[in-house]
Amino acid sequence: MKILFMKNIAVFGSGSGSNAENICRFFSSSKQVQVVLIGTNKKDARITNRAKKLKVPLLVFSKNELNTFTKLHAVLLKTRVEYVILAGFLLKIPEKMLELYKNKIINIHPSLLPKYGGKGMYGNNVHSSVLKNNDLFSGITVHLVNENYDEGEILFQKKCAVDKGDDVSSLSKKIAKLEYLYFPKIINSFVLK
Ligand code: GRF
Repeated sequence: MKILFMKNIAVFGSGSGSNAENICRFFSSSKQVQVVLIGTNKKDARITNRAKKLKVPLLVFSKNELNTFTKLHAVLLKTRVEYVILAGFLLKIPEKMLELYKNKIINIHPSLLPKYGGKGMYGNNVHSSVLKNNDLFSGITVHLVNENYDEGEILFQKKCAVDKGDDVSSLSKKIAKLEYLYFPKIINSFVLK
């Protein structure tokens, strides 16, 4: 039975939503944490189909609705969302939301920040930059969200080797594997701390 003391989380994404799905599956058997909402600014993104398949309530909002943060805030309050997880969410979080959810918004980034962070650094852009620079390692970073892209306090990092034969596709698979393995566990310990 899901109890009242559950920590409610929302997951926001703008693309495929494979991390969102993985997070939902991880918490589906939890007695302490539940995903009560998937949010997206892209009504045609694959994440919307995943939300429907998983039967997790889906909220599609515009950039303007995010920035004014009135309607969206009302939904988060109604669903008692305490933490917002960004998993491939590409819009900047507005100041109002950062104030109201101070230290309660976390993001995953597919590199070892501060390397390859900032505007435009997402998805394959990150991996091709890592390969272009012949880095020996890449990895994932889970961090708190603040007013600058990818600059909030780092909560967790995990490295992986970049091998000679790696290309964007193989490197992105290695990174995804790390994300699926660690991100839900880090969320769990963060929200239950
Ligand atoms: C992930 O690599 C994540 O690190 C980054 O965006 C990607 C999202 O992929 N922030 P998906 O939408 O979860 O499949």
